Amino acid sequence: MKIQSAILSVALAVSPATAFSSTSSHNVVSSTQLYSTIPKPGTVTTSLTPPSKLDSSNTPDLFESRVYKTYGRYPITFTSGHGCVLTDDTGKDYLDFVAGIATCALGHSNEALTSAITNQMKQLHHVSNLYYTPSQAQLANWLCTNSCADKAFFCNSGAESNEAAIKLARRHANDRGITDPVIITAENSFHGRTLATVTATGQPKYHKGFTYGGEMVRGFKYTPYNDVEKLKALVEEINVTPEEDAKEGRKRGVAAIMMEPLQGEGGIRPGTVEFFAAARKLCDDNGALLICDEVQVGMGRSGSLWGHEQLGVEPDVFTSAKALGGGVPIGAMMAKGEAASVFGPGDHASTYGGNPLACAAGLAVAEYLSEHNVLENVRVRGEQLAAGLEDITNRYPSVLGETRGWGLLRGVVIKEDAGCTAAELVGDAMKEGLLLVAAGPSVVRFVPPLIVNEDEINEALARFEKAIEKRVGESS
Ligand SMILES: Cc1ncc(COP(=O)(O)O)c(C=O)c1O
Repeated sequence: MKIQSAILSVALAVSPATAFSSTSSHNVVSSTQLYSTIPKPGTVTTSLTPPSKLDSSNTPDLFESRVYKTYGRYPITFTSGHGCVLTDDTGKDYLDFVAGIATCALGHSNEALTSAITNQMKQLHHVSNLYYTPSQAQLANWLCTNSCADKAFFCNSGAESNEAAIKLARRHANDRGITDPVIITAENSFHGRTLATVTATGQPKYHKGFTYGGEMVRGFKYTPYNDVEKLKALVEEINVTPEEDAKEGRKRGVAAIMMEPLQGEGGIRPGTVEFFAAARKLCDDNGALLICDEVQVGMGRSGSLWGHEQLGVEPDVFTSAKALGGGVPIGAMMAKGEAASVFGPGDHASTYGGNPLACAAGLAVAEYLSEHNVLENVRVRGEQLAAGLEDITNRYPSVLGETRGWGLLRGVVIKEDAGCTAAELVGDAMKEGLLLVAAGPSVVRFVPPLIVNEDEINEALARFEKAIEKRVGESS
């Protein structure tokens, strides 16, 4: 089945996957079957229909009829996974270089992670944040011990961790007498899909249709990534409160500069040391906070635990999710120094945030990274991957351009006149049994589990080259 170019990224795609969502071999669920158990309006349900037995044969049909179509999906149903390999419902194996979009740091069905959450589940899985629980304390301690942070706040996703950072920056600015706090983010950035984080995301395509009077959430300004002069000029501009607002007693100021150390969804673009040093200094000079979004690049993916370490800066606030729980949902916002005492009881909260089950997963990942020399593996395997991609690029210079990234977060640019999109190449690789994910329209991203080994990298490179070879063959 041909992969449609409309599907640019499984994570981000908004177009319905009508092209491949229904398969004729599966029985289509009839509307009578679907709706027959729903009570008439005004009646009260007194008996429930239990879920049907887990059966993958009608999965695509149920997705078609029952799952809200906010994603374009590839036509594969996965039913199991082990290490860096995923298996679909027909028994076909795929080398997984997506890892749940940079999330399954320890791969699939990792024993340490499995037994940690199984044991925690048997003991205690949720009590709310009305009480103390040991695993939340231990995970916060590990995160602070292995970073510049003093305190951690837990939530459930990357967007939520950034939402917490945004609220913290606003409160911090308010405490300094700024009534109109502005957060500067980068063009091409990605920070999440809640209203504030999608506003922080410097990509207008994600704002379309979500405005009020043409505006998204107020208080965000965008600057080109890695452009020091433009950043300085924007800070100067924000520091001058418009006259009319000043007359009303309002004061505008920079609350924070919020950046990904490496732009992931924006096309695997690493930040520069100069840009982050300038951002750090501008924050210091203006009493603003430097926030690093480590949701994708953090927790070891760059070869250091945190992406900002690659750039030699210490942020006031940084956020994490994805790999933090190795695929079990958890997010965290870490804060240092003054920023660590901005929030008090009642200022921010999450019912699930840091529950024992999620924190047991976080602790299992933390222990595994600490005890299995995983950061070294990321560095060595990352270099092997980058070198292999450059070799392939040398053999197919009409299709492939620059290879970018750090550690096991790598992207290869598909040239404008290559005759195919990144999404199409991802589809080609899938046919060869290799899962990849696009990062924007022209970059193919490689984000395998952090425990990937030498043979698996070699095999992935071979399969990727085969996919390109076939495409070049087809088009010539
Ligand atoms: C840098 C970055 N920040 C935030 C997010 C949003 O994370 P989540 O999807 O867990 O809300 C993502 C997701 O891709 C991301 O890459």
